[in-house]
Amino acid sequence: MKKKKTLLQQKQQLALLGGGAKRIESQHQKGKLTARERIQLLLDEGSFEEIGMLVTHRCQDFGMEKEIYLGDGVVTGYGTVNGRLVYVFSQDFTVFGGSLSETHAEKICKIMDLAMKNGAPVVGLNDSGGARIQEGVVSLGGYADIFHRNVQASGVIPQISAIMGPCAGGAVYSPAITDFILMVEHTSYMFVTGPNVVKTVTHENVTSEELGGAHTHASRSGVTHFACTNEVACIENVKALLSYMPQNCEEEAPVYDYEIGNEIKEHLNNIIPENPNQPYDMKEVIEELVDTESFLEVHKEYAENIVVGFARLAGRSIGIVANQPASLAGVLDINSSKKGARFTRFCDAFNIPLLVLVDVPGFLPGTDQEWNGIITNGAKLLYALSEATVPKVTVITRKAYGGAYDVMNSKHIGADMNFAWPSAEIAVMGAKGAAEIIFKKQIAEADDHEGKLREKEAEYAEKFANPYGAAARGFIDEVINPEQTRVKLLKAYKMLEHKVVNTPKRKHGNIPL
Ligand code: HXC
Repeated sequence: MKKKKTLLQQKQQLALLGGGAKRIESQHQKGKLTARERIQLLLDEGSFEEIGMLVTHRCQDFGMEKEIYLGDGVVTGYGTVNGRLVYVFSQDFTVFGGSLSETHAEKICKIMDLAMKNGAPVVGLNDSGGARIQEGVVSLGGYADIFHRNVQASGVIPQISAIMGPCAGGAVYSPAITDFILMVEHTSYMFVTGPNVVKTVTHENVTSEELGGAHTHASRSGVTHFACTNEVACIENVKALLSYMPQNCEEEAPVYDYEIGNEIKEHLNNIIPENPNQPYDMKEVIEELVDTESFLEVHKEYAENIVVGFARLAGRSIGIVANQPASLAGVLDINSSKKGARFTRFCDAFNIPLLVLVDVPGFLPGTDQEWNGIITNGAKLLYALSEATVPKVTVITRKAYGGAYDVMNSKHIGADMNFAWPSAEIAVMGAKGAAEIIFKKQIAEADDHEGKLREKEAEYAEKFANPYGAAARGFIDEVINPEQTRVKLLKAYKMLEHKVVNTPKRKHGNIPL
């Protein structure tokens, strides 16, 4: 037995070395951690249980039969994050550049299957040169096996992808299907075709960083939800994200201790400027409303005219979708609609109540928006908020104009509680535009056109630039003073705690993609 135990120990030690000390050193020199070091950072100390440590590839071509590494380029298993079960795979760049072989894929699929059966999140730590080139089509098959599982798991268990090195070609589509992507600045990149192919096909000169680095995807494409300064920050961010989520779609998110104190927030009275055309930062409102330092912004650098993120109210998770008047006056456009819709659907899938904060002048006009499909894309947000069955609460802080009023979680599309501040303006359109249309003839006939316009604008504003018309019809449940908002929210979510909605029987809806 002793000899046999020694053999096992030797194999284990070999597996721990991955592609060998030299390649580990090279990984460190690139400013990157190894697959195992990353797992150590992610999971609670001593909680990792590895599965498939001794798996090897089956390739017999190109001399591969002589190059065998135990584990085959991916470390897989399970452990806990803050005491909660999580499945993890971590690609090992020191073994064939973390490339995906048939067996590498099988290892990932195995933990995904376990995660589905046991209802716990999967975290993927990606660092891979793509398909194992020596294996050909079996590697492609392996990718597709993972994609299919990603789709089956979507909306059942949370799936998080951290990109900590290369992620190129078709390999990008597994992270793309998962719920959240995080990238590390300067050491990770994602693209379908790299700079060389781009140069050949479109004659563009672009670096990997410009084409698919963390900053590019965080701000331009919106592919990544988080750009992290380094790997440690990235893994901390994964842990923070998990803390707002339930283990699966049948469960509730964890509840944190909270002692009710003075919940009146006087500062909220001072945020909205006197001049309705002056911007303010909606994040200041959010910080006042939620538990101290509990706001985790998602997609921070993308479509900044809408703010989305997780927070806690008296220790309970909520998802926030808020217009941002400090960027493009908070207007809804293609990107902000897509951003809001995707986040809304995650929250709804995982029983996280929604809070929608409204200050929106309408949809962004222009050929760019129309030709790129603001109709279809704007409909995504409308669809997502309308279909969500979690508790849905709205607070209109200032403007709620036109179709955007309907879209932003209005009573009509199923919001449970609709509050408005006395500063709210709820109307078909802004007073100036409205006056120009409905009093066109009177303004044209007046000696002083400008004076007449101002008079009619004031008349329209007096009648509609307030919350009382909507409150009179019950579209607004209560007009509240800003300082009371947190108290009202706490009570509303408590009241909605056991909300049940029966939806019509169907296979699935057809969101305008
Ligand atoms: C097998 C690979 C590999 C791969 C890298 N390696 N990529 N082995 N299959 N796809 C190996 C290298 O031979 C090398 O082995 C080690 O990993 C490290 O690679 P380096 O090139 O030395 O590292 P670096 O300079 O950091 O460059 C990393 C890289 C580059 C940019 C990822 O290796 C690269 O371009 N690789 C090929 C990428 C690619 O074309 N993949 C296929 C894409 S198609 P040694 O023994 O020297 O350590 C695809 C389709 C998926 O993925 C479709 C899904 C539907």
